[in-house]
Amino acid sequence: MSDGCRAAVDAALRVLESGGEPVDAAVAGVVVLEDDPRYNAGTGSRVRIDGVTVQMDAAVMTSAGRFGGVAAIEQVKNPVCVARAVLDTPHLLLAGDGATRFARTLGMPPYDPTTDDGRARARDLQKRLLARDPTLPAEWARFDWRRHWNFEHGLSQGASAGSAGGSGQVPADGKVPAGGKVDAGSDTVGVAVRAADGRFGVALSTGGTALTLRGRVGDVPIPGAGLFAGVHGAVAATGTGERIIDVGLARHVYDWLAAGIPAEQAAKRAVDLVGGKNGSIIVMSPTAMSAATESPMAWAARESGASTWLGPGS
Ligand code: GLY
Repeated sequence: MSDGCRAAVDAALRVLESGGEPVDAAVAGVVVLEDDPRYNAGTGSRVRIDGVTVQMDAAVMTSAGRFGGVAAIEQVKNPVCVARAVLDTPHLLLAGDGATRFARTLGMPPYDPTTDDGRARARDLQKRLLARDPTLPAEWARFDWRRHWNFEHGLSQGASAGSAGGSGQVPADGKVPAGGKVDAGSDTVGVAVRAADGRFGVALSTGGTALTLRGRVGDVPIPGAGLFAGVHGAVAATGTGERIIDVGLARHVYDWLAAGIPAEQAAKRAVDLVGGKNGSIIVMSPTAMSAATESPMAWAARESGASTWLGPGS
């Protein structure tokens, strides 16, 4: 998947080299990844356990401290472009139906970001949930999700409506299909940019996790959680949103940069802080770039007078 990251870096650099703002360069890079169905953002976002719904989060931030984000937005092609537009409103964050309707005011038409692969993953997850698969995250094994089901469709109805080609019905015996540990996802794509004049821009986008109630919002649109930027650098994270919010990850890492801790050390500390496989990070300071992860993470970097660094694209 590094090829997608390289294409995103190239797109970001093209904007920088033609005189664009760092934040717009970061957005251009993220658009490339949102349009690539292999990543959990935009097209290819995780389909929820109802088998139908996709809700996406995205955010942007500049080194002047300006922030724009969208949470639980639906039926748009590029959530990061909506987040960029929020930057120019009196608000920091638009959520749900309001975010989607705001996108329409920008001329963005309804768009279905689901893919066959996303729907198949959702069907697999439904089966595992019904079968009380022991590889489900412990908090979901304990959680009475039936009582709190807040999707428009029932579980098997949703599976049917969301499937293209397959029956999509959950088997009556609730048998667990062959396969490994449950991967409900919580991956994110992001681009960090440093312009030749030292200003930073960062953009982040995600389809969140499949194993969630409707309306769940992760770390991506929360300033200081999934991303942060300022005069000392730019930070972008991927991983378990709840944990990343819990520790205020990106703001911590930024504060370490401001205190003079090198980017590489700050990145390693970040992974320790969030608890190993719970999160991965990219860190860009005025003089260096670094990444740290204990999980697979695709990334790419390029420097050309102006520098762009991309990741996490896991
Ligand atoms: N890191 C993305 C999410 O948890 O939503």
